[in-house]
Amino acid sequence: MRHIQTSRLHLRATLCAALLCAAAASGAQTVEASRPMALREVMDQLGRDMQAVTGAISKEDWALVAELAPKIARHAEPPASEKIRILAWLATDAGKFRGFDAQVHDAATAMGEAAQHSDGQAVIAAFAKVQQSCLACHQGFRKPFVQHFYEKR
Ligand code: HEC
Repeated sequence: MRHIQTSRLHLRATLCAALLCAAAASGAQTVEASRPMALREVMDQLGRDMQAVTGAISKEDWALVAELAPKIARHAEPPASEKIRILAWLATDAGKFRGFDAQVHDAATAMGEAAQHSDGQAVIAAFAKVQQSCLACHQGFRKPFVQHFYEKR
């Protein structure tokens, strides 16, 4: 009898340890889920570079715009492992997503060329196109992206 009780106690302790372990594991997953995607840092840099362009336009500092534009056109990319995750999530929408990125690339390149010619109006027209491409991708993908990679796990 005593033996049975001891082994029951032991079982309970083992179960408890297993549950604790599971709790710790799910805790670790929450930390994992809330760790920012590398894309976020890429985006933050794009945001800073676009702000710097706004400042340069106000000062008609076309040399600075010409310097910043290629950084926007050829912005950094997330590491391959993250790209694979993003592409898997995008599935059939991958082409659309990439299309918005290509629009940013083309508009930022045009902005740089206009800046090299000190053509303020053309710089601003191209700047607006860059912003429209940022916005189009955000409107289509940002919310579901955040939900998928940060909230739903
Ligand atoms: C191809 C799609 C796409 C394009 C184009 C794009 N973005 Fe984003 N952007 C995203 C996604 C997806 C997020 C959400 C990332 C996250 O929260 O991890 C985001 C988030 C951001 C954020 C918020 C980052 C934060 O800290 O929460 C900023 C700022 C930003 N983008 C700036 C820009 C600017 C400026 C451009 C244009 C020059 C741009 N983005 C173009 C997809 C895009």
